[in-house]
Amino acid sequence: MTTANPSGNTMRALLVRETGWPNGMQVTEVPRPQAQALDADSVLVRVRAAGLNFADTLSIGGSYQEKQALPFVPGAELCGQVVAVGAGVQGLTAGERVMGQVGAGAYAEWAVMHQHRLARVPTAMPDDEAAGFYIPYGTALCALRERGRLAPGETLLVLGAAGAVGLAAVQVGKALGARVIGVSRSESKRGAVMQAGADAFVAWSAGDLKRALQQADVGAGVDVVLDMVGGDATAAAMRCLQFEGRLVVVGFTSGQAPTLRANHILVKNIDIVGCYWGPYQQLRPAQTRQSFQTLFDWYRQGRLNPAIADTVPLEGVAHALEQLACGAYAGKVVATLPIPSGVTE
Ligand SMILES: NC(=O)c1ccc[n+]([C@@H]2O[C@H](COP(=O)([O-])OP(=O)(O)OC[C@H]3O[C@@H](n4cnc5c(N)ncnc54)[C@H](OP(=O)(O)O)[C@@H]3O)[C@@H](O)[C@H]2O)c1
Repeated sequence: MTTANPSGNTMRALLVRETGWPNGMQVTEVPRPQAQALDADSVLVRVRAAGLNFADTLSIGGSYQEKQALPFVPGAELCGQVVAVGAGVQGLTAGERVMGQVGAGAYAEWAVMHQHRLARVPTAMPDDEAAGFYIPYGTALCALRERGRLAPGETLLVLGAAGAVGLAAVQVGKALGARVIGVSRSESKRGAVMQAGADAFVAWSAGDLKRALQQADVGAGVDVVLDMVGGDATAAAMRCLQFEGRLVVVGFTSGQAPTLRANHILVKNIDIVGCYWGPYQQLRPAQTRQSFQTLFDWYRQGRLNPAIADTVPLEGVAHALEQLACGAYAGKVVATLPIPSGVTE
């Protein structure tokens, strides 16, 4: 096997030396993970592309729930080519393409993945789509089907609908047979949300969301709210729920975890559930595999169309993450890590 770095001991990676924003993180040479040191459950991959996630901005800022010891290589999601597998890994061989989630380390040329946190990439799916598929679509399906019990014919309201998880949720919601209303702060994102298949779009940032839905003529009663935003938006969206509605809490891009009034929960018999998808992958690997079979079937049928907002080189990740933190994109940003020409693996 020849590799992109003949010495084999180092690789290019984005390195965070201290937490906080603005951040002086830089692409530099760091030690490369070695096949001989793989755990039994692990897989070594050559990274082809890495998906940017809002959670990266929290991790780099030092406020994410899962802390990294400094210095660290950020990045939680990638598409890579298998280079070596641990002794306990079955059914995966060198050369196959996989997508998946890592605790950190996706913004690098090589990465180590856990066998329960990856899936084989469908043949027809390009690297950039695969790098941004695993977290948004895995989260959306778990949040809507398992946690939100979204049923055919119900109405789903998605807060943060133009984000990566939001656009995935619009498509997954449609695949589950729901009517989907997408909400974004920005009218300029209407096209992206409607193109994802939403039945309606509402530009809204503050005030009475129920009235905004009525004024937009999309009705005021919804069955499930998928909340990626938090802050005041959560209570405003909860008021849109009808009898036995479900509020699924996924994230807080507003920067605020909301406080909610229990009397509102009581009078409408509302369920409020959290969805933190990461732990499910290792706690319920069989269910995770089944979920990806469903998602890949939908992908092959053309019902899921990952939206790539931009692709950047490794050197462009830091700037793109700053933009992403401000909500600048509609869809997923992906870092591509091409293998230098003339080099084979
Ligand atoms: N629980 C889980 O398992 C899980 C998994 C994945 C992600 N998440 C969380 O889900 C959230 C969304 O993730 P994502 O990858 O979809 O993020 P993203 O692609 O960056 O999209 C986030 C969206 O939030 C909206 N937003 C509303 N208020 C905002 C504000 N004050 N600042 C920035 N954006 C704001 C933006 O939409 P508009 O500008 O259009 O309003 C933006 O498109 C994040 O909090 C992430 O950590 C949770």
